[in-house]
Amino acid sequence: MLINVAPDIETMGIRAARVIANEIRNKGRIVLGLATGRTPLPMYKELIRLHKEEGLSFSHVTTFNLDEYIGLAADDPHSYHHYMFSNFFNHINIPRKNIHVPDGMPADKEAVGIEYEEAIVKAGRIDIQVLGIGRNGHVGFNEPGSSLGSLTRTKYLSEATRREAAKEFGSPEKVPKEVITMGCGSILNSRHIIILASGVEKADVIKAAFEGPITTMCPASIIQLHRNVTAIITADAAAQLTLPVEDIMGI
Ligand code: GLP
Repeated sequence: MLINVAPDIETMGIRAARVIANEIRNKGRIVLGLATGRTPLPMYKELIRLHKEEGLSFSHVTTFNLDEYIGLAADDPHSYHHYMFSNFFNHINIPRKNIHVPDGMPADKEAVGIEYEEAIVKAGRIDIQVLGIGRNGHVGFNEPGSSLGSLTRTKYLSEATRREAAKEFGSPEKVPKEVITMGCGSILNSRHIIILASGVEKADVIKAAFEGPITTMCPASIIQLHRNVTAIITADAAAQLTLPVEDIMGI
């Protein structure tokens, strides 16, 4: 695992965007796994800037988002569909047919996960999977207790995560109870993982995920099983780590 410590969240986002931009420029046709939340926003902002000012093209990029709330329509302002279009897709030249976000209103809750996994395989698997991390160690919406081999399926949120999400929804009662998420196994099937974290409130979970035991109680600890992980985290989030960190990017 390569751990890069950034001085602030903006620099973290710029560095992550550059890793992705380099891959797009080198290969052209790539498949990205994308995350929502506060953490990746500076990365999306920089990717949009690279598109608008430096001609970075997303015309051959395919995306798969990690997760979505069940019961929220794509145009609901709290849905991850809405987040992704307003913060990223509407500002770049990605073809609509290349965008995949799990369906929050599935007709068949069993089939929807299987179909999502089939679409990932058909696209040639995920080249770079971007991950944030929840304060209880969740990745995507794989809460503590999730199988480390799991694939895309519907799940129920923990009370802790619903309390966290209440910041966006106004109150925990308004946060949907059920979600659809790529599984820990789906994430591990990607070729490269970029995990991002910022803020002192993530320091203990970063320590647990990077240096603690690999356990269902901290689903983010699956990154220890992957052979190609780049962690880009701010200094406050890295504060409890004892692993050596590297400054390879020099920005
Ligand atoms: C949600 C998302 C995760 C995200 C996490 C952390 O639960 N489903 O994918 O990583 O929140 O969010 P933030 O980046 O806002 O701390």
